[in-house]
Amino acid sequence: MKTCTTIAALRAEIHAHRRAGRRIGFVPTMGALHEGHLSLARTLTRDCDIRVCSIFVNPTQFNDPKDYQAYVINLDKDKALLEREGVDLLFAPDVGEIYPAGFQTTVTVAEISKPFEGALRPGHFAGVATVVTVLFNAVTPDAAIFGEKDFQQLRLIEQMVSDLKMDIQIIRGALVRDADGLALSSRNARLSDEGRRTALSISRGLFAARAAFEGGERSADTLQGIVTQSVLGVQGTEIDYIALVDERSLERVSTVTGACRMLVVVKVEGVRLLDNIALHSIGL
Ligand code: PAJ
Repeated sequence: MKTCTTIAALRAEIHAHRRAGRRIGFVPTMGALHEGHLSLARTLTRDCDIRVCSIFVNPTQFNDPKDYQAYVINLDKDKALLEREGVDLLFAPDVGEIYPAGFQTTVTVAEISKPFEGALRPGHFAGVATVVTVLFNAVTPDAAIFGEKDFQQLRLIEQMVSDLKMDIQIIRGALVRDADGLALSSRNARLSDEGRRTALSISRGLFAARAAFEGGERSADTLQGIVTQSVLGVQGTEIDYIALVDERSLERVSTVTGACRMLVVVKVEGVRLLDNIALHSIGL
């Protein structure tokens, strides 16, 4: 795997692959890689000849500077994981390469950025949309993959690519869970053993809601209530939101019709845990 730290070096590599007629796939990340990230790279092998991964801890998407400081990654460990996965090219720029002095452009996606994570983390999605635009312009991929784990982020990127007519196929990567059901996240490492057990109430609640949905339940109140009960049934949980939304607009629904998602954020031991599950009534 070749590593580039500058956009100039990256472009030289990309141009060589393009001239050879290869299809380029891209996985943007902030490092601290786990099986969730690696599964995205694996999924891309189906569609692409060359896989590019970026590792860049993007300061502009952290609404809390303390959170940015606490975001520690081990580049050597991440590189070893990507090598093993057979990723072809790593782009690992420093902050000055992406945001040189005088940088002054922001990309905002108006509606998708408003609720949920957008409301609780002001400026977060503008930071995400801006850095992803810069990364897209640097890598110029044919396809890029984003995890369903961060569902609102995935929708934000899909909307941005559509609105700005970016010629990039956005692929949805399935949410990867640990064997016990907990959605994989670099933040899980901050949980104690007890916190982890507590956190399992989230996926348990989501699975119970989906079982009820498959049994014919369509009421948002009832389905949200199942998740709420599971989470509040254990001590040490604090709900940020539990919301049944339309997958496209991310607006709350009162009844499941078409493609919906249950979005959940719960704090355990001060760690914000994001999870979600698809409730698709199409074809059922
Ligand atoms: P990061 O949190 O490192 O996540 C990188 C990608 O991995 C995202 O698309 C995210 O949805 C996906 N991912 C994380 N955990 C996952 C899991 N358990 N299953 C499936 N996919 C998972 O998201 C970001 O970085 C940044 O906001 C970024 C898009 C790189 C812009 O800075």
